[in-house]
Amino acid sequence: MSSVSASSLLLLCLLHVLPIAEVLSQSNNNDTTTTTIEVESACELLDQYGFLTSQEEINCQDEASNIVEQLEVEEFELFHNITYPDGATLTAEERQAQLAASARAIAELNPMTIDFQLSLNKYSTLTIEERKQRNGLKLGDTPGQDEQDLLHQTNAASTATTASSSTGDSTTGPPTATTDLPDSVDWEANGAVTYVKDQGHCGCCWAITAAAAMEGITAIDTNYQYLQSLSFQQFISCDSGNDGCSDGSNTAALQYATGSSANSIGGVEADDTYPYTDFGGTTTTTCHANATGLAVTVAGSVLPISIDNTNQGDTPRAVLMKQAVAKQPVAIAMNAQCDIITHYHSGVLTMDTGCACDESNISSCLDHAILMVGYNDTAPIPYFRIKNSWGTDWGEAGYFRVAQQGGGPFGFFGILAQAVAPKSGINVTNQVLPEPAVDAADEGLGSDGSSSSSSSSSSGTTRRSMSLAALAILWWWVL
Ligand SMILES: *[C@@H]1O[C@H](CO)[C@@H](O)[C@H](O)[C@H]1NC(C)=O
Ligand SMILES: *[C@@H]1O[C@H](CO)[C@@H](O)[C@H](O)[C@H]1NC(C)=O
Ligand SMILES: *[C@@H]1O[C@H](CO)[C@@H](O)[C@H](O)[C@H]1NC(C)=O
Ligand SMILES: *[C@@H]1O[C@H](CO)[C@@H](O)[C@H](O)[C@H]1NC(C)=O
Ligand SMILES: *[C@@H]1O[C@H](CO)[C@@H](O)[C@H](O)[C@H]1NC(C)=O
Ligand SMILES: *[C@@H]1O[C@H](CO)[C@@H](O)[C@H](O)[C@H]1NC(C)=O
Repeated sequence: MSSVSASSLLLLCLLHVLPIAEVLSQSNNNDTTTTTIEVESACELLDQYGFLTSQEEINCQDEASNIVEQLEVEEFELFHNITYPDGATLTAEERQAQLAASARAIAELNPMTIDFQLSLNKYSTLTIEERKQRNGLKLGDTPGQDEQDLLHQTNAASTATTASSSTGDSTTGPPTATTDLPDSVDWEANGAVTYVKDQGHCGCCWAITAAAAMEGITAIDTNYQYLQSLSFQQFISCDSGNDGCSDGSNTAALQYATGSSANSIGGVEADDTYPYTDFGGTTTTTCHANATGLAVTVAGSVLPISIDNTNQGDTPRAVLMKQAVAKQPVAIAMNAQCDIITHYHSGVLTMDTGCACDESNISSCLDHAILMVGYNDTAPIPYFRIKNSWGTDWGEAGYFRVAQQGGGPFGFFGILAQAVAPKSGINVTNQVLPEPAVDAADEGLGSDGSSSSSSSSSSGTTRRSMSLAALAILWWWVL
């Protein structure tokens, strides 16, 4: 405790946690007209979260009284730089009530496990409807019948759904038994994953995830020489098989990108030449993509890597998923509207309360597209690692981890229900600037509809990421 000023440390903790106390006390009083904050309950909460030594517990009473008096939902919104979807009309009181609901959910869930931690964040004042709108996976999206199954794409003879024989060629085919799989895979560390995007309030998870799957196979195909963010705005504005910021499907997006849908132009531009503009949630319907500007092209490709939610035989889906992700980053789907995902901070998710999917509702349950980038079998809780598109100020620098075992046949949140990815064989046609090695920028922040805004916003977001990183470090140091 000596290396950092106790009061600045406390301030950071209070800023992070006190809104819980504030809104909790407010809702306990059941008095929406007062913003009186109970300092005692704030200190109790800090204590409960293990933030305080006994000396600090005493000081807390003094420190907190100064800080909490100023904290209201507006402060919270400023602290997290919260923006609302285009056209949002909720009042400050309604936002405060939503914040209270989020805080109550976190206060109930966090004590239940040490496997993961939740915290208030930039989504804590969003309503369920706003969360759903932001997610944006088309209900019922599933890889089509015409696509070959993941396990058999490179070996037509191996059509059995069990993984008994190991006839796959290790350089071109997937491993066919658990023992063939590496202990861990991390495509981000390998250099096949671009920086974390922030979709803002546009329901374009499907576009970001399809682009990310293309980015992955492009990097792998080019021996990691070409790692470039691709234009998900192109999918939003140009892919008439999907619905822009309303919703879309991973599968249809990859059909568009790989040239097998009617409106395809056979490839995708780079994000640099066709940047994201729809952060606020309103779809730009004018398409600017043209064949000469494409960064990658794929001729007449199919989507050979797919698992769908039908019976896959005796092999557990977790093993199928590992076989898929051992080959390349894959686009998957989940249910993401619950508090556990919304407020995820860190750790391995071993519960999916409010986001569970099972056989009875799997096709309507999946509402968010994300990129599976790896797994780790040797960790204390073996997990899958997944890249989200909610900025680097969400989760573990934009990523999250989910336990491999548990949650039923489709896994926690339904993450094992489906996977799609483009076939190897992408041509890089228009190489632009290389992806920065370390880039924590939140793509959408600062986008105002013009492509020139990206450079001006980057220093702000970098500063913000740094202060958030500092906060996270202090958080852990205190814990
Ligand atoms: C809070 O107030 C509302 C509206 O007056 C009422 O319906 C509700 O039962 C109250 N809740 C508690 C916990 O007192
Ligand atoms: C095609 O796209 C590229 C890259 O965005 C752009 O530089 C070029 O002006 C576009 N050409 C036409 C005809 O729109
Ligand atoms: C990639 O380029 C090569 C050589 O120009 C061409 O033969 C091949 O068809 C292209 N493949 C794709 C997928 O566009
Ligand atoms: C799906 O079904 C499970 C089990 O019945 C339930 O717990 C879950 O809430 C349902 N999910 C959705 C999104 O309806
Ligand atoms: C997997 O987990 C082990 C144990 O926690 C760790 O040492 C290792 O670095 C992890 N591997 C990857 C690829 O993250
Ligand atoms: C907050 O977001 C706005 C746009 O949404 C952006 O212009 C500003 O730079 C952000 N501030 C910080 C500190 O990140």
